[in-house]
Amino acid sequence: QRNPVGKLLLFGATGDLAQRMLWPSLYGLHADGLLPEALTIVGSARGEQNDDAFRAFVQKALGQFLAADRKDDDKIASFLERLFFQPADLSDPASFAGLAEKIGDVSGGLAIYLSTAPSLFEPAVKGLESVGLAGETVRIGLEKPLGYDLASSREINDTVASAFPEERTFRIDHYLGKETVQNILALRFGNSFFEPVWNAQGIDNVQITIAETVGLEDRAGYYEGAGALRDMVANHMLQLVALIAMEPPALYDGAAIRDEKAKVFRSLRKIAPEDVPICTVTGQYEEGAVGGKVVKGYDDELGYDSNVETFVAIKAHIDNWRWQGVPFYLRTGKRMAKRRSEIAIQFKPVPHSMFSGRGGILQPNTLVIRLQPEEYVQLLVMAKEPGLDREGIRLREVPLNLSMDAEFAGSRRRIAYERLLLDLIEGDQTLFVRRDEVEAQWTWIDAIRAGWDANQTKPKHYAAGTWGPAGAIALTERDGVTWQDD
Ligand code: BG6
Repeated sequence: QRNPVGKLLLFGATGDLAQRMLWPSLYGLHADGLLPEALTIVGSARGEQNDDAFRAFVQKALGQFLAADRKDDDKIASFLERLFFQPADLSDPASFAGLAEKIGDVSGGLAIYLSTAPSLFEPAVKGLESVGLAGETVRIGLEKPLGYDLASSREINDTVASAFPEERTFRIDHYLGKETVQNILALRFGNSFFEPVWNAQGIDNVQITIAETVGLEDRAGYYEGAGALRDMVANHMLQLVALIAMEPPALYDGAAIRDEKAKVFRSLRKIAPEDVPICTVTGQYEEGAVGGKVVKGYDDELGYDSNVETFVAIKAHIDNWRWQGVPFYLRTGKRMAKRRSEIAIQFKPVPHSMFSGRGGILQPNTLVIRLQPEEYVQLLVMAKEPGLDREGIRLREVPLNLSMDAEFAGSRRRIAYERLLLDLIEGDQTLFVRRDEVEAQWTWIDAIRAGWDANQTKPKHYAAGTWGPAGAIALTERDGVTWQDD
């Protein structure tokens, strides 16, 4: 049941995420006539500026970050008319009276979006509550990071829960807003032939890669307190694991889907300190060439020596009937050889090969779900090479291809935030992360970090523009498994 609000209040309105993603997304929804007709949007940040100056600021951001074919002067003008600005310093309780006045009546519903440092969540929630901006008609969206471990995430959750019950709290993981990520659900549960082999009997291993070519990007303040494990695995990566591993939900709704995901997180096998050196690999990039351009190493970018990991690979297990004995290999890193997010499901080899000795080596079937930059699904199968086969039949691995880009060429791919902002405005929680999910994710992550501390693990250096330290290859090769690379 969708229940749109009449007002949106966006904290962090002049920040980097807002400029790159949030304003272009809100504009995209406006341009397509998807925002509630009367929706007004109040942006808030520190620093005095009036509505007009703020509109000029947003207009500039749109000019910079909107795809060229989406720019429409009339629509931009009508979008800007929805916008207002109210300065606020969230750490100063005196800021909230002005906000309440600017927002006015919230009986028609208010959605608040906190795109700010998590240290401001607590004063923000308290301040909002103190001026009556946390009542029944108000919902709140929280941008990551939601803490840096279980304890800090509980603290944030408790604070938020003191003013906003769970059904009005929307935790964002922008991976869930990606079309390709939702397509995992369509593939798994909209087709009958995957399910019978989607288990330990049919699947040998699962590999999930989120490789980026970007580096630190002026985010030292945040990234030094996070590292790849907290930045990518604790949220995006584990959400992908859950979508691949979960039991079929009975309904496409927030409760059913999140129940099943939460069960997966609770079934993740805790990695004991003594297993951490075998089951995890950490790395940090040093100077190297990415896409033909030489880039600095992480420490050089920072200007000091750091032990923060920019790469992590993990061998994970899910302890339930479906997945017993199936390793989930996860890896993510910055400054890697290519930008690529992909899930590769490797099936069991054939039980007996009648071609052995003559037909060449049989590769196990692999289902590749490429999430970005391209969008496709490939099933790698063995096929006969053409020929008279007088020396014996020859087989070769070939892809059965479904290119989503080509198949749905006419439909625009929306920014993940377009969907998530619309769902927040309309009150659909399906693609937001529930408290029990977040806390189960941190429980598993904390055990790994504790293991690193106990073992005094230091990241191994890898050259920028490669697939990470050699240990990441050993992690799978030890099990006789090779990363699905192209
Ligand atoms: C963010 C991380 O959550 O996701 C960034 O903080 C990362 O470090 C980004 O670059 C990746 O998102 P995407 O959509 O580009 O894959």
